[in-house]
Amino acid sequence: KTKVIKINPLNIDMQELKEAAEALRAGRVVAIPTETVYGLGANALDPGAVESIFRAKGRPSDNPLIVHIADKEKVYELTENIPEKALLLMDKLWPGPLTLVLKKSSIIPGIITAGLETVAIRMPEHPVARELIRLAAVPVAAPSANVSGRPSTTTAQHVLDDMDGKIEMVVDAGSCRVGLESTVLDVTVEPPVLLRPGGVTPGQIEKIIGPIDIDKTILGKISSENTPKSPGMKYTHYSPKAHVVIVRSEDRQKQVYRITALAQASEREGKKVGICATDQTKAEYHGFETLSMGDRYKPETIAARLFSLLREFDDKGVDIIFAEAVDEHEVGLAIMNRMVKAAGYDIIQAE
Ligand code: TXA
Ligand code: MG
Repeated sequence: KTKVIKINPLNIDMQELKEAAEALRAGRVVAIPTETVYGLGANALDPGAVESIFRAKGRPSDNPLIVHIADKEKVYELTENIPEKALLLMDKLWPGPLTLVLKKSSIIPGIITAGLETVAIRMPEHPVARELIRLAAVPVAAPSANVSGRPSTTTAQHVLDDMDGKIEMVVDAGSCRVGLESTVLDVTVEPPVLLRPGGVTPGQIEKIIGPIDIDKTILGKISSENTPKSPGMKYTHYSPKAHVVIVRSEDRQKQVYRITALAQASEREGKKVGICATDQTKAEYHGFETLSMGDRYKPETIAARLFSLLREFDDKGVDIIFAEAVDEHEVGLAIMNRMVKAAGYDIIQAE
C-alpha cells in the first residue's frame, strides 16, 4: 500500500517532509507535487532507483527522464558546455516550468538519458518540490506520475488511481497550478528547438534568446518524414479510455453544430457521449455529458483542467469524447499538442 503524506505548501511541515526525503535517499520511488503535474521521483544518481521508476510506470526504456534540481548551481555538476542562451533562460525563467536539454556530465547514469549524450534538467518552482529535493540532497529524476500512455496526474488522488501499491509514497500538496507538463527546449543545437510546448510559451523564450525552431511533430502527425527529436514524443500519450475526436472551426457556432450532429450520431449507435466544451459554449449542448475545459479567452484555465477532465470522462464511463479545438498560440499550443495526441490525430474540420 502506498503511503500518503499531506503537506500544506503555504506552511511546510519539514518533519513530515523529511520522511519523504529519507525514502528518496534510500532509493525508493516517491510521487512529488510540482507546479506542472505530479512527478514519480527517485534519486537520479542511483540507477537501481531509476529502474524502479520505469517499472512502476510501465515506461519504455528508450524514453529519457528529466532530472530535477532545487538550486541553479547544481546544473554545473550534471551538465557540460552550457551555452550562453541557456544561461540567460536559467537566469530569467528558473525556477519554473522550463526544461533544458544540455550536454550531460559523466555522473549522469545512462538509464536516465536512455543512452543519449544529452540530459534534460528542470528546476521546479513548487515550494514543496524544492524543499523535498533540498532535504534529499540528491538530484531527483521524475517523469509524470501516470501509467505510461495515460493522462498526466494533477492531484494526489489521480496519482493513487494509477500508482497505488506500486510506489512507496505520495506527497500530497493539492492540485498543480499549471496542469500541463513543462516546456522542453533543446539548447545543444543552434537555433534551439522546442521539443514539447508547456507552461513557458515560445513567446516568453524568444523574448529572451531570439528565434527558436519548433519541432514539426508538436502538432503534426508523426511519419517517416516527420520524426520527433524527443524520444518520448513518438509514444501514444494522454489517452483516456474513451476515443477522443477534436472538432476545429474558425466559427464558434459551426463548431457547436458539428459536435452536436456527431454526438447525436454516436448516441444512435448506442455510445455514451462526452463533450469537452468551453465556458463560452457549455450551455449550447443539450443532453450529453458536457464538461467545460475552462475559459476560451483564458487558456491557462483550460491547461489547468484538461488532464483532470479527461479522467473525469473515464469515471463517467463515456465511450467517445468530442472536443472543441482552441487557438494554437502561446499556452494554446501546449493545450492543442496534448489534445491532438489524446485524440490520436483524429481531427475534423467543421466547414
Ligand atoms: O513538467 C514536467 O516536465 C513533469 C514534472 C514531473 O516535472 N515531468 C515530465 O516528465 O513531464 P516526462 O518524463 O513525462 O516527460 C519528459 C519528456 C519526454 O518527452 C522525454 O522524451 C523528454 O522529456 N526528454 C527527456 N530527456 C531528453 C533528452 N535528453 N533529449 C530530448 N528529450 C528528452
Ligand atoms: Mg509524461
